Amino acid sequence: MNAPVTVPKAELHCHIEGAAPPSLVQRLASQYGDDVSSVLDGNGKYLWTDFTTFLKAYDTASAVFKTPSDYALLAETYFRMLAAEGAIYGEIFISPDHAQAAGLSYRSYVEGLATGMERAKNDTAIEGRMIAIGVRHFGSASVEKVVKEVIGNPHPLVTGFGLAGDERSGHPANFAKAFRMASEAGLGTTAHAGEFGGPDSVTAALEFLRVKRLGHGVRAVEDKDLVKRLADEDIVLEVCPGSNVSLGVYTHLRFHPINMLRREGVKVTLNSDDPPFFGTTLGKEYSSIAETFNWSPEDQIAVTRTAIEAAFCDDATRNRLLVRLESALQGADGN
Ligand code: ADE
Ligand code: ZN
Repeated sequence: MNAPVTVPKAELHCHIEGAAPPSLVQRLASQYGDDVSSVLDGNGKYLWTDFTTFLKAYDTASAVFKTPSDYALLAETYFRMLAAEGAIYGEIFISPDHAQAAGLSYRSYVEGLATGMERAKNDTAIEGRMIAIGVRHFGSASVEKVVKEVIGNPHPLVTGFGLAGDERSGHPANFAKAFRMASEAGLGTTAHAGEFGGPDSVTAALEFLRVKRLGHGVRAVEDKDLVKRLADEDIVLEVCPGSNVSLGVYTHLRFHPINMLRREGVKVTLNSDDPPFFGTTLGKEYSSIAETFNWSPEDQIAVTRTAIEAAFCDDATRNRLLVRLESALQGADGN
């Protein structure tokens, strides 16, 4: 009998500030004299009750990261954790607006994060890339400023551009120009849609932003024709089941549409979104979905393959990752 093999994993959707362990946030807050008691309880848990208060807690916790070395530590911590769970690749959403609010330039922010990613890679071989996001509820001018900063300060590890923030504010049409600029500059693009918005929000993201990947996108399931379109057009969903349940989009994992979407031929990936805020990790996402929907190790490996095929990385890196993945196929029989 083969020994249990860790399923190789890949993450396409994780907000780096949202991946900050509460202990690290508390430590930096004490060092800087910041008060984070409104967002962290005494037991090291984040405090929030709904999407609005979650976004607020996220902003407050992010503010304790003030220097390139703070961000290096954050990225190193996250990528080491990811590698320890069997991940071979991770993309992080980075938010230049949050860094700026904490007093950091775009360049220092990216260099700090890259330093941490490099440290984790040297020890664990985990590969990583960054996707700069604009915050939707800050408006189109702010989102366009982000894309200009990314284009004006190219960095080999910043390979994508995305849209996050409150999906209930601002129509995708407002961000079409920013996405056109990003695509023309050769960046991969993705946008949050179909998380709190219904199928119309997914259609609008496809029409106005021309993305081939969607953050969440799961509420497309409410429109049969749209599901068929996603499958036909090879749109990849960055699905974050634990986040969806935590934020109340679905009441229980067994009601989550990931399995149904996959059965209909939609390309799905598994992701942790803002892991400690939602009591999850990438490893937990794989194991809880495998358990809930009876996914075999081969099913899970297929999901990782989808993620690597859709990753915003160069083809040489993609091919190396695919070789690592295929070599794990033999004898894979567990998490
Ligand atoms: N920013 C951080 N996490 C987010 C989420 N789940 N949706 C939208 N914006 C976010
Ligand atoms: Zn997200």
